[in-house]
Amino acid sequence: SDKVRLALLGCGTVGTEVVRLLHEQSADLTARIGAPLELVGIAVRRPGRQRGSDIDPALFTTDALGLVKRDDVDVVIEVVGGIEPARSWLTEALRAGKSVVTANKALLAEDGATLHDAAAEGGADLYYEAAVAGAIPLLRPLRESLHGDRVTRVTGIVNGTTNFILSSMDATGAGFGEALDEATELGYAEADPTADVEGFDAAAKAAILASLAFHTRVTAADVFREGMTGVTAADMASAKEMGCTIKLLCIAQRGPDSAGTDSVSVRVHPAMIPRSHPLAGVGDAFNAVFVEAEAAGQLMFYGRGAGGTPTASAVLGDIVAAARNRLSGTRAPSESSYAHLPIRPIGES
Ligand code: HSE
Repeated sequence: SDKVRLALLGCGTVGTEVVRLLHEQSADLTARIGAPLELVGIAVRRPGRQRGSDIDPALFTTDALGLVKRDDVDVVIEVVGGIEPARSWLTEALRAGKSVVTANKALLAEDGATLHDAAAEGGADLYYEAAVAGAIPLLRPLRESLHGDRVTRVTGIVNGTTNFILSSMDATGAGFGEALDEATELGYAEADPTADVEGFDAAAKAAILASLAFHTRVTAADVFREGMTGVTAADMASAKEMGCTIKLLCIAQRGPDSAGTDSVSVRVHPAMIPRSHPLAGVGDAFNAVFVEAEAAGQLMFYGRGAGGTPTASAVLGDIVAAARNRLSGTRAPSESSYAHLPIRPIGES
């Protein structure tokens, strides 16, 4: 067919922005892809809900699986999140040979293998640039641009909420509670901030980054995790006295363990870093990821890691790639062949 047909699963903060951008940039997208995109359906739980944009109400359905199974759907875009039912919808789509674009970091970090295997089975492509660090082009460089190189370490600030809190503690001398209240008031922190402040969100992202950087399979359960609720105003003050600041970092490393075995270690915890380090200057709710590779040396990726519009930017990029690759019969890089490198216990260097 001369059109690429899209099904959208989920229409919250990110989904509505995806629909808006698809509309607004429709002429440009058609020119870039070489064929028009057509959104054929949007699966939501409550179709009556006001979504603040002029989406054709006829597109809404509550039958996500039915939408995924439609013969005329080429690309399934998932912005619902969570493990189930997203996993069932996406494996169904991939096995049927449809391209999948997802922002679902929890699913990829917990059970990415199931998706990669379904993609291999269906000869389908899986794209997930939006799952880590929102708008920042980060997964494609790790997945493609750096494939001729050997990545040795990835160090990142991948959670905007906690970076906002720690930056504000650093700037004002506030304690954790006070800074968290400010983040909540400004809409950075969610009503239940557990996933952010306890490091679960960062650990999921760390697992995805480590898997891609080292061509292996790392799940969220493999990641050592310590949250940042224990960082006090006094800790921050002493860090400052030493010319440092405190950031919640994810650190993924690859190298020989004490027995000489090639292995990886992945961890998330608050860390003191010198002010001179490029990550120390990453303020507000920004994200940044510092990548070290043998031939490339040091690279840094920086930008907005959350929010509807920045995340939709990454989703749109993946939609364009998926559509183009379908039309030209090109396959995206596959992770189905990734082997397991041993995971090094924390404490062993
Ligand atoms: N809660 C996340 C953050 C949103 O603060 O970075 C993006 O995954």
